[in-house]
Amino acid sequence: MKNIVVLVSGGGTNLQALIDAQKSGIIKNGEITCVISSNPNAYALERAKNNDIPTKIIPRKEYPDSVTYSHEILNALNELKADLVVLAGFMTILDECVTKEYAYKIINVHPALIPSFCGEGFYGLKVHEKALEYGVKVSGATIHFVNEKADAGAIILQGVVNVKKDDTPEILQRRIMENVEWKLLPEAVSLFCQDRIEIINGKAYVTE
Ligand code: GAR
Repeated sequence: MKNIVVLVSGGGTNLQALIDAQKSGIIKNGEITCVISSNPNAYALERAKNNDIPTKIIPRKEYPDSVTYSHEILNALNELKADLVVLAGFMTILDECVTKEYAYKIINVHPALIPSFCGEGFYGLKVHEKALEYGVKVSGATIHFVNEKADAGAIILQGVVNVKKDDTPEILQRRIMENVEWKLLPEAVSLFCQDRIEIINGKAYVTE
C-alpha cells in the first residue's frame, strides 16, 4: 500500500475528488495519510478533518524564501515516509531540494493543456483568464510529474474541454475541474500506486 501525502493551499476540490475516489475504491493500492497545507485558512483542511485524515500546516508566510520553505516540506515528507506526493491546488513552487529527492514521486494537476498557459505566474483563475484572453477554442488540464522547472515535468494524463463564447474564467475553471481534473487526478494517483506509470527517456507512459 503506497503512502500518499497531499499538499494543498485553497478550497481543496481536487483533494475532495481524491478522498471520494479513495472511498469508492477507485484508488487502488494507496492511502492518503496526511494533508499538508501552506495556508492555515484553507478549506481543504476541513475536508481532510471531515474524513479523519491527519493534517499539518506549514504556512508559506512564515518562511523568508522558497528554499527554506521547501526544506521544511522535505523534512515533513521524509518524516511521513511519503511514497507519493500530490500537489492538489498547491500554490507554491517547490525548490529542487524536494523535486530531486522525490523525482517521479510528485504529481501535480495544472488547469491547462501544458505546454500552453503554464510556468511561473500561471496558477488558479489566472490560467483561465489567459486562455480566454488568447481566444483558444479548447482547454483542459494536465496531470504531470514535478521536476525542477515549473510545470515542465513528464506528462501523465491530459483531458480537453471546449471553450464557449460566453465563458468567464470561473465558468471555464469549473468545466475543466468537473470534466477533467476531478477524474484524471484520482486516475493518475491510482495508476502510480499500482506501478503502472513507466518512464522512458524522461517521458511518462501508462502500462496495462
Ligand atoms: C485547480 O484548478 C488546480 O488545477 C489549480 O488550482 C485549482 C485549485 O483548486 N492549480 C494550479 O493552478 C497549480 N499551478 P482546488 O483547491 O479546489 O483543488
